[in-house]
Amino acid sequence: MAEIEDVTVVGAGTMGSQIALQAAYHGYRVWLVDSDPAQLKRASDSNRRLALRSAEKGVRSPEEAEAALARIRLETDLAAGTEGADLVIEAIFEDLEAKRALWAQLGRLAREDAILATNSSTIAISRLADLVPHPGRCCNLHFFHPVTVMELCEVVKGPLTSEETVAQAVAFVHSIGRVPVVLRKEVHGFIANRILFAAAEEAFHLVEGGYATVEDVDVAVKKGLRWPMGPFELLDFSGLDVFYGALEDRARVEGGPGVPELLRQKVARGELGRKTGRGFYEYPAPA
Ligand SMILES: NC(=O)c1ccc[n+]([C@@H]2O[C@H](COP(=O)([O-])OP(=O)(O)OC[C@H]3O[C@@H](n4cnc5c(N)ncnc54)[C@H](O)[C@@H]3O)[C@@H](O)[C@H]2O)c1
Repeated sequence: MAEIEDVTVVGAGTMGSQIALQAAYHGYRVWLVDSDPAQLKRASDSNRRLALRSAEKGVRSPEEAEAALARIRLETDLAAGTEGADLVIEAIFEDLEAKRALWAQLGRLAREDAILATNSSTIAISRLADLVPHPGRCCNLHFFHPVTVMELCEVVKGPLTSEETVAQAVAFVHSIGRVPVVLRKEVHGFIANRILFAAAEEAFHLVEGGYATVEDVDVAVKKGLRWPMGPFELLDFSGLDVFYGALEDRARVEGGPGVPELLRQKVARGELGRKTGRGFYEYPAPA
């Protein structure tokens, strides 16, 4: 495997756009691929705003910000966007069939020695790697939202992932200023979200059982455990529907308690957190 110089990110949504920017900040040539040209434009506009704001804050010079933006090339054609890549990071919708269709294409289009990674939060690499030649080069690279702020990236080793791929993935994550942790065996939710799920389930238990209010659970976790946000605030921030989907997926994969009734009711009423203006708390109307 050649040294990583060219990185392709497929999917220019919330995650893919900022993964591309973070890599470009650190000198990589990046292809950002999306089947929707309007989304590429939105991603490019949003990355420009972020890069210029980081220059205003003095994190980098205006010239460095412009140089990073210039390193990102936008592309709608998957073949053109992946042919030169040393590393491909897939960040399309969280839908197994859509991902499998794309990975089958990646298996044909990407170079045989390119590392192939998915940013999926719930789909472990073994559910995709069977579609490509040399599955030892495949892994999860699970970044956190927003990528340019959140430092963690979980590297997931599937049953076929080679140690060399894990080492290269870890080195890549370090090289873009993020902090890697390695999940050595696949398990649903990986590391950080499993801890979050366990805390959130207990938080629901306390509220549904009438033991404490939403507000007091959040205060207890912030003031007693020093978490920056309480579990309910965090769910409002990430989207109640996202958490709902993840719990359902986990129940499918490994059984367990499923979705708490309080969460079910909130999602049924369309109270999805910050993005809808109401979740466990109320927020100013979304822009
Ligand atoms: N949003 C989060 O907080 C978050 C956090 C960590 C991981 N993830 C994971 O990252 C991935 C992407 O999530 P997101 O929130 O950025 O999604 P998103 O909906 O914001 O963006 C997905 C993008 O993929 C594009 N796309 C879909 N099919 C495509 C195809 N075949 N070829 C090219 N482009 C295609 C869409 O046009 C869209 O722009 C998911 O797997 C999700 O689980 C999301």
